[in-house]
Amino acid sequence: MPFPTDFVWGAATSSYQIEGAAHEDGKGPSIWDMFCRREGAILEGQNGDVACDHYHRYAEDIALMREIDLQGYRFSIAWPRILPEGAGTVNDAGLAFYDRLVDALLEAGITPFATLYHWDLPLALYQRGGWLNREIADWFADYAQVVVGRLGDRVTHWMTLNELKVFVGEGYMDGSHAPGHKLPLREVLLAGHHALLAHGKAVQAIRATSPQPCQVGWAPTIFPLMPAEETPETVAMVRQITHAVNPQYPFWSSSWLFDPVFLGTYPEDGLALFGKDAPDIQPGDMETIQQPLDFSGLNIYQGFYLKTGAEGPAPVKPKDGAPLTALHWNVTPETLYWGPKFFYERYQTPIYITENGMSNVDWVALDGKVHDPQRIDFTTRYLQQLQRASEDGVDVRGYFHWSLMDNFEWAHGYRERLGLIYVDFETQARVLKDSAYWYRDVIAGNGIQ
Ligand code: FCB
Repeated sequence: MPFPTDFVWGAATSSYQIEGAAHEDGKGPSIWDMFCRREGAILEGQNGDVACDHYHRYAEDIALMREIDLQGYRFSIAWPRILPEGAGTVNDAGLAFYDRLVDALLEAGITPFATLYHWDLPLALYQRGGWLNREIADWFADYAQVVVGRLGDRVTHWMTLNELKVFVGEGYMDGSHAPGHKLPLREVLLAGHHALLAHGKAVQAIRATSPQPCQVGWAPTIFPLMPAEETPETVAMVRQITHAVNPQYPFWSSSWLFDPVFLGTYPEDGLALFGKDAPDIQPGDMETIQQPLDFSGLNIYQGFYLKTGAEGPAPVKPKDGAPLTALHWNVTPETLYWGPKFFYERYQTPIYITENGMSNVDWVALDGKVHDPQRIDFTTRYLQQLQRASEDGVDVRGYFHWSLMDNFEWAHGYRERLGLIYVDFETQARVLKDSAYWYRDVIAGNGIQ
């Protein structure tokens, strides 16, 4: 039995990438509304003002989810729709949208998995320091309380932050995402610490507010390291490096963010490496951060192989012509084996794969259909490896394909298509791709047959 019978098969999206309606019904601006206006930030100056117009077309989109027989749908809530200034006044029209969405999902028999933060920080909070201001932990917890107070009678699966590593790393360190800063390591680590505190306080707020038992997690990303050959020595070496803070890419090391959440401490090697740049930890911080979680999401797309060389571990450079997605990400199916496995060994927390998928060069063919055999092959290979992890005893509870539909792929704009559903951004017409029909069969068979 590769997957448990209650395994959840779903697809994922995020608010800014699909909703559109960027200035409607009282929504405040977010840092992405701002960043998209910065010259050169986004491919061809595109933005999410309209995106997939999901805000108006959610019912049609849920009808399509039904055609795929999705069991779960992961979406995010736009903080500035709920609190236009980030804190203070609540915008009822924003909450009402998610009311309608959740009701329609439940009516369709689809379990909502809600993420509270998928990068669209209210601009007003950015102007008050954003993730660099320690107060953000309270702002985020207050926002969580408002959302769960309204939706918690129907939503039972919550995630706090999507990809802390990316929104801080790309937003505050390399500047390719909103708000587009290139700050010194000390400030990057401080923003990361505040985000961890925000996560912890939000978990507390969700549990305190939910009127019914609920499942709480988060959705970090990992770039798994994998053994080039499965000998015990190489596996042990890769495991060790996986859980170490890598001096070359310090902030990107998983243990720097995962150890606080699951073990209640920053890793010693990271603290030693960062020295004076390490964040100031105030009494009680680590207890706040280490809230028990019911699950961890993992967003996994690609990873890297390591081999044991004469002078220690050596990365294996992908061969020229090796499979790549349209975004030129490596096709590395074994990341869905080694990623969950190494994570589970260390943190013993149930896992949902909250994102996995690929960007492909899709178009509507002369027969009116969208043929995307690469996506089917890609996902087959990745799911085979996830099945292997599950058979090995890793507690994997669900898989959410990224994405339900083509959408605004951040700095890459609309060029990159990652959906199971094709979207014509001129007409807003939707077409189920071949992969969507294929995925329906996977769902029916509870896995790859
Ligand atoms: C992840 C993001 C998601 C999407 C995919 C392709 O890093 O969480 O919004 O952009 O990558």
